[in-house]
Amino acid sequence: MKKKWHFFLAGVCLFAFIACKNAAKQDSTITVVDYHTQSNYNEIQFDHLNLNVSVDFEQQQLAGYAEWRIQNPQKANELKLDTYDLGIDSVWVDGQKKTYSLGITDKELGTVLSIPIAPESKWVRIFYKTGKNATALQWLTPAQTADKKAPFLYTQSESIYARSWIPTPDGPGIRFTYDAQVQVPKGMRAVMSANGDTVLSEDGVYHFNMDIPIPAYLLALAVGDIEFRSLGSRSGVFAEKSMIEKAAYEFADMEKMMGIAESLYGPYRWGRYDMIVLPPGFPIGGMENPKMNFITPTIISGDKSLFNLVAHELAHSWSGNLVTNATWEDFWLNEGFTVYFERRITEEMFDASYVDMLWELAYQDLQLTLEDMKDSPHDTRLKLDLKGRNPDVGLTDIAYEKGALFIKMLENALGRSAIDDFLKQYFDHFAFKTIHTKAFEDYLFQTLLNQDSTIYHQLNIHDWLYTEGLPHNTPRVDLKRFNAVDAIRHEWMSGKPLPNQVTQQWSTYEWVHFIRFIPDTMGANALAALDKTYKFSQSGNSEIAAAWYLIAIRNHYEGAYGYMEHFLSTVGRRKFIVPIYSELVKKGASMRAKEWYNQFRANYHPLAQQTLDEIIFNN
Ligand code: BES
Ligand code: ZN
Repeated sequence: MKKKWHFFLAGVCLFAFIACKNAAKQDSTITVVDYHTQSNYNEIQFDHLNLNVSVDFEQQQLAGYAEWRIQNPQKANELKLDTYDLGIDSVWVDGQKKTYSLGITDKELGTVLSIPIAPESKWVRIFYKTGKNATALQWLTPAQTADKKAPFLYTQSESIYARSWIPTPDGPGIRFTYDAQVQVPKGMRAVMSANGDTVLSEDGVYHFNMDIPIPAYLLALAVGDIEFRSLGSRSGVFAEKSMIEKAAYEFADMEKMMGIAESLYGPYRWGRYDMIVLPPGFPIGGMENPKMNFITPTIISGDKSLFNLVAHELAHSWSGNLVTNATWEDFWLNEGFTVYFERRITEEMFDASYVDMLWELAYQDLQLTLEDMKDSPHDTRLKLDLKGRNPDVGLTDIAYEKGALFIKMLENALGRSAIDDFLKQYFDHFAFKTIHTKAFEDYLFQTLLNQDSTIYHQLNIHDWLYTEGLPHNTPRVDLKRFNAVDAIRHEWMSGKPLPNQVTQQWSTYEWVHFIRFIPDTMGANALAALDKTYKFSQSGNSEIAAAWYLIAIRNHYEGAYGYMEHFLSTVGRRKFIVPIYSELVKKGASMRAKEWYNQFRANYHPLAQQTLDEIIFNN
């Protein structure tokens, strides 16, 4: 009996000792674990990457080598890199061929490549080619492009897909510079997230240099029959021939936008800012690849009304690319800050009432997201728990909108100039470094909150960062413009025509709000009448068209289906096509959804296919 107690007490003491030790560690510098890389980045310093690949459209393959310049201060005897479906041909360390080994393949993380090294090893070169399941690569046939003449390739590396086209340490906290040589078929052009040429190369060989250290998720390449237009002294746009004029018109205010961003939060530190407008199958709105943002053509509306979406990708040049989430569990620090920043830029470009509409539409989306996530409430926390899970489960409105609302709450409580000073200082302090939620919380407490625990509790900071759902002090915006829209919709629902002189003044977002709340019981005839005047079904404005198709499905309005089919046959942006297919399935039109999806699936990006396969084939 005595003995047992003895052991028990010893156990308690030991447990308490470990717990105390860990708690002490938590308070100072907590150890950050990135569950999504198998590389040994804690031991090896990855300084620079030399990439040399050729692009083979026939085989749909990249082949060549990746060479890493490393330092090995801890004298590790192995170097470990992330790979995903790569074929490794040979491995060389400082000019000597080595025997390497590949680990057991994990469905999400891929296969770790282990290479024997010595303490003084400097250069590690891997000859490889990409596989058929390269998640980052989308190979387009000429028919899937805007001009329909040449094939097209682009990469999408965020979050953990860079490893499917380069053997690399693939975690957001691991930064390196790079040089690249890319061989493409003659007559085509390559662009990368780096400094490069804007002129067409005679022999199809392109050179790039990224002089500022970046994490692997910002490695990017696009190859196509594309042209370049300058937009100003430090910005320009690449696009296919048939899109280039439209793109240049739509983005004409780029330099002005950069000036606004800089006046808010400090200098743009990446040199040039170029964009490439991709073919319509691009799965996302935009990707903040440094020096060269990748942009969906669905924001080209002809009237610059969706240009503010570029503000988002530009804002990532500060939040995300400069100050980077340490792990994907801290993703909100990338996206939430960026949404807040994006709206501040937009406010300067337009006005406060305009931005209030953006906040409100996003708030409506967030409510739907929270409803959808009823069964996984733990994922509605800002700080996520992604151990053993694909980081893309964190790609929800929580990171974006709950994150942005948190900053807005701070702004409302402490004043705009205080929050602006804080953010400017934050971007300077953590420039080219990573940040995790606890480090952010500490920094916030020390600076903006002046170490005042009363304010910390009043503002509910702990709940915002670590608990589920929306805290009670979630800010709301002025709904003036949307209240006016609601009143007009009600009158229309009771049979009155829309007042033209009012609706003529409406922006895209007033229309989106008008459309979103048309009830399911309105009926096909009422929708047909509206469509006759306003031509929503064939709108060139993707936000309006996509909102309208959902209402059309709910009201069984057949008149929209032909246009919807066309939309789904070209557009690949997940934000639009996932809700449309889901709505079709929900409203008993699964046969039609299946038929369309089988036809168009090949046009979509592998990641969009993953989401849609689930919706279409599991119902
Ligand atoms: N960085 C994201 C896109 C992303 C996030 C890709 C995580 C893969 C994993 C990008 O900045 C983004 O947020 N894009 C938005 C557009 C934006 C205008 C809100 C999108 O695609 O909807
Ligand atoms: Zn973003």
